[in-house]
Order: sequence, then structure tokens, then C-alpha cells
Amino acid sequence: MSLLNDLTGAPPGMPPHALLPRLAAIGAVLAGTTCGFAYAGGWFSPGALTPARVIDRFEQVNGPHPGFRRNHAKGLCVEGRFTASGAGAVLSKAGLLAAGRVTPVAGRVALAGGQPYAADAEATVRSLALRFTLPDGEEWRTGMNNIPVFPVRTPEAFYEQLLAAKPDPATGKPDPARLKAFFAAHPESAKAAALIKARTVTAGFADSTYWSLNAFRLVAADGRDTPVRFALVPERAPSPEPAAQAARQDTNFLFDDLAAALRQGALRWHLVATIGRPGDPTADATQPWPADRESADLGTLALTGSTPEAAGNCRDVNFDPLVLPAGIAPSDDPLLSARSAAYSQSFTRRAGEDKTPSAVAGTPPNGAAL
Ligand code: HEM
Repeated sequence: MSLLNDLTGAPPGMPPHALLPRLAAIGAVLAGTTCGFAYAGGWFSPGALTPARVIDRFEQVNGPHPGFRRNHAKGLCVEGRFTASGAGAVLSKAGLLAAGRVTPVAGRVALAGGQPYAADAEATVRSLALRFTLPDGEEWRTGMNNIPVFPVRTPEAFYEQLLAAKPDPATGKPDPARLKAFFAAHPESAKAAALIKARTVTAGFADSTYWSLNAFRLVAADGRDTPVRFALVPERAPSPEPAAQAARQDTNFLFDDLAAALRQGALRWHLVATIGRPGDPTADATQPWPADRESADLGTLALTGSTPEAAGNCRDVNFDPLVLPAGIAPSDDPLLSARSAAYSQSFTRRAGEDKTPSAVAGTPPNGAAL
């Protein structure tokens, strides 16, 4: 009896029949919670795409690599700071965009794909992910890739494409028939693939431009809302990949070159916001915006050093694109919430697994001047 009273929080001495409504309410809460977990796990909708299914598919395609990110698995931690130009202050109330504001940044350069020990190759998509730490516990986390558009428009297409592009063990290349069927079902991806193929591949991480691809919104203090796409544009003039580089034996040449460059001094990028006009697609990352759009140079990112992935640094960060400070808001792009959910699933799995050292060494304690 007293156990029932304790459980329901009823005053001592309350008769059993009077406890029934309280027990029913507790039962309803428990059933609701169980249903919530079952829903999130996809038990009610066996055909629906869930974060777990997306990450299962990465594992199916790439094999198990415990402890590593399920995508962009090979990487190196970087650090530096962002100095705002003030040009973004009229567009956004984000404190990090106020003129002269200096914000510490920790980040990660990586190669797309789920193989943490794959040899570097110039055509592999390069990424730069950043975590800006603002006062009062606010953060901006962002991840950008060196391709001008994203290959798919929806999370479902991403899931299909992972399998369609899986290398055939016999040839080491994707099955052409499967790829053809994917592009026939997704003409927007065929167009995006052509734009990605036509891009200039530069010599390395240091002279690459990185694009957010997804649209976001800058929100001003007066509530004005502006659709934007971000890019990190290098100060270093882009140079084409030297012919000799392709033949290098060093399997980490892209990362080693970056670490060596950081040993010589800071590397800088401009954070540029391209400003969308009404009608520009904000929910379709396969489509470029017209080339004549205005842009604002929001400030300078200076990277000053790198460290191999290890406990407590970028290895243990989830660069979730929906961690945004006040003044930067998501667009209606369906990839954003799918990314957030999938990165969380990847993070949760890898956080609970044993770790093996990363293939990539960083810049030993560096004195790179800002
Ligand atoms: C539905 C679409 C997408 C899915 C399912 C997906 C999945 C993933 C996963 C699982 C990771 C590893 C996360 C972790 O363990 O921390 C990752 C990393 C990353 N993704 Fe995506 N991705 C998608 C779209 C995009 C898009 C549109 C971009 C645009 C730039 C992007 C950029 C990145 C970057 C930069 C990283 C590396 C972050 C880091 O270094 O930790 N992804 N992605």
C-alpha cells in the first residue's frame, strides 16, 4: 500500500480505488514515452528513413571503422580565430559579426567518405568544419565542402545515392548501371554531378574555397530576414594541382601539406555571404544561385595550427549545422534537419566505441604568427 502511495505521490491513507486515476496517468506517461522512442526508432514505419538507417547504410557501404566519423572519416583538427569586418552587422544581430569582434575557432579539415585510412586523392571532396565559441555559451557550428553544389536534394536521395555510388569490389568503381538508374530517377542530381565534375580542383586544403551549400537566414536586430549561402574564400591564390602531386607516394599529402603550410604561418579565408533574392532556391542544394548575386565579406578566418585528432579536441565534436547563434537561422532546406539527426547518430555511435589513432599527424606545437 505505502509503496503505491510513494509511486503515485498520493498522501498516506488514501484508499486504493482513489489511487487508480493517478496510476492510469503514470501509465499513460510511460506508454507515451515508449511510443516516442518507438517512433524515433522507426518501428511504426518500417519503410521510413531514420537517422539509424542512414548511418547503417554508411556502415554497409564503408565497412566498420569503430571510433571514427561515419562520413568525412579522415581528418585533422585545426584552430584559429575569426575577426569580423562589420559588413554583416546590418544583416545579422549575431555578436560574432560585430565590427572588430574576435572569436576563437576550433575546426576540422577532412576528406569526404567513410574510410579513415584512405589515401588522399585530389578529386575527393575536401571539407572545413568550424566551431565558433561566443560569449555566454553561444556557438556557431558549420561544415563546408569544396564543391559548388550538393549532389542530392533530399535525405531520401542521399540514402539512395550512398548505395548507387558504392564501389563494386570487382572493379573498385560504382556499378555504371546502378548509377545510371539513380541519375535517371534524380535528374537534379545529374545536373549537380556535372557542375561538381567541372569545378577546378586546386592544389590542397589551403587554397580551396569551401561552400555551405545549404541556405541559411541572417536575422537582423530589427527582425529583417535575409536568405544567404556561406563560403570560405582563401586569401591564397588557387593553384591547380601540380602534375607531380598526383604521383606522390605520401598517402596523406593533402593533410601533410596543410600542416606544413601552417608551420610557416597563418592561413586566411574570407567568410562571404551570398545574398539570395526572392525566388532563389533555399530548399534545393543541388541548384546554384545566379552568379550575379550580391555578397558581403563578413570577416577573416585565420587558421594558425593543427593537431591530430585526440581525446578532447575536434575528434569529440559534432559539427551539427543546426547549432546556430541568435542572428543565424536555418532555411527550409530539408537536408539541414536530416544532417543534424544523422550527425547525432554518427556521434553517438563513435563516442561509445574504442579509438584507434587517426592516420593524420598535425603541426607539432606551432608558433604560427597571426
Ligand atoms: C542528408 C544529407 C547528409 C548526410 C546524411 C550527411 C552525413 C554526414 C555524417 C554522418 C557525417 C559525420 C558526422 C560526425 O560523426 O560527426 C558528416 C560529416 C560532414 N558533412 Fe555531411 N551529410 C549530409 C549532407 C551534407 C551537406 C549538404 C554538407 C554541406 C557542406 C555536408 C558537410 C559535411 C562536413 C563538412 C562534414 C565533416 C564534419 C567534421 O569534420 O566533423 N554534409 N556528414
